[in-house]
Amino acid sequence: MRAIVFDPDAPRRFAFAEVAEPVPTRPEELLIEVRAISLNFGEVSHADNADGIGSVPGWDSAGVVLTAAADGSGPPVGTRVAGLGWSGGWAQRRVLNSANVAVLPDDVDFETAAALPVAGVTAVQTIRGLGPVLGRRVLITGASGGVGRVAVQLASRAGAHVIAAVGSPQRGAGLAELGAGEVVVGLDGVAPVHGVLEHVGGTMLAEAFHLLLDGGTLIATGSASGPQTTIDFEAERMMLKRTTIKSFMVSWPVGEDLQYVVDLAGRGQLDPQIGLRDSWENLDGAIDALLGRRVPGKVALTLG
Ligand SMILES: NC(=O)c1ccc[n+]([C@@H]2O[C@H](COP(=O)([O-])OP(=O)(O)OC[C@H]3O[C@@H](n4cnc5c(N)ncnc54)[C@H](OP(=O)(O)O)[C@@H]3O)[C@@H](O)[C@H]2O)c1
Repeated sequence: MRAIVFDPDAPRRFAFAEVAEPVPTRPEELLIEVRAISLNFGEVSHADNADGIGSVPGWDSAGVVLTAAADGSGPPVGTRVAGLGWSGGWAQRRVLNSANVAVLPDDVDFETAAALPVAGVTAVQTIRGLGPVLGRRVLITGASGGVGRVAVQLASRAGAHVIAAVGSPQRGAGLAELGAGEVVVGLDGVAPVHGVLEHVGGTMLAEAFHLLLDGGTLIATGSASGPQTTIDFEAERMMLKRTTIKSFMVSWPVGEDLQYVVDLAGRGQLDPQIGLRDSWENLDGAIDALLGRRVPGKVALTLG
């Protein structure tokens, strides 16, 4: 079958190749025909962490079940699904664990579904990590990006007053309509917050941490800006604050959380904010646009 593989000599470190057909080896695994994929910052910027030359990367995909899980745990043949795994997603066919799959409502197209696994599950799990947010101020950094645009909607839906931090006014376009109470460029002048969903890293992480109220929590999800920075914990303590910082990694299995966001999308209550739709043939251009901060939200690519 045709797939995108890790190739350190290719300009963006990915190339198309013919690879062996994937085969379910465990009773809870199913095989899907992939119709759409999405790109995530982590998998395109840290491609060197791929499983090796010629391996098939890809976290998010959506498609149709070709072979059902042998143990009967997943959806039957012919079901439209979205799924998440740490590899194998950027290919014509893919094996998934049935516990990491969601069934698509009729109104959810494959691109929409492919945009939701990493971004949707991350947003759900990080918002939960803040505890109750009803009536509380929640800062979301990198709010213009794939995770950020979904998190703005879900945090607002959970009752938070959302402060969406972006790199420029243009990057913040549409966030107020998605539920942000404030859209800010930089954190100067932002009033203290109960929680932070932090996606940018570097100095932004330290600045956001110092905005926490006593008892507040920062979830450190990503560092799109690169290297981390030093946090002045002594300054925090001298302000008599008891704050928490948690590093985040997706918790498995993700099927329930994925089904939740897919169903919201099906009811028109969540928009995955696909800022770029294209064919997977144009992978390199899509990677450049994503890493160049020119995509408002997600990149979704169709196969075929
Ligand atoms: N731990 C986990 O399990 C997990 C799961 C999902 C994502 N993540 C991480 O979370 C972060 C956000 O993911 P995402 O998919 O939302 O990424 P994304 O769509 O690329 O968004 C990242 C945002 O960060 C901002 N940013 C600030 N400085 C940047 C820079 N130097 N380069 C690129 N972006 C910069 C950009 O906003 P402006 O242009 O408005 O500044 C951009 O919209 C990434 O670091 C990703 O690896 C981690």
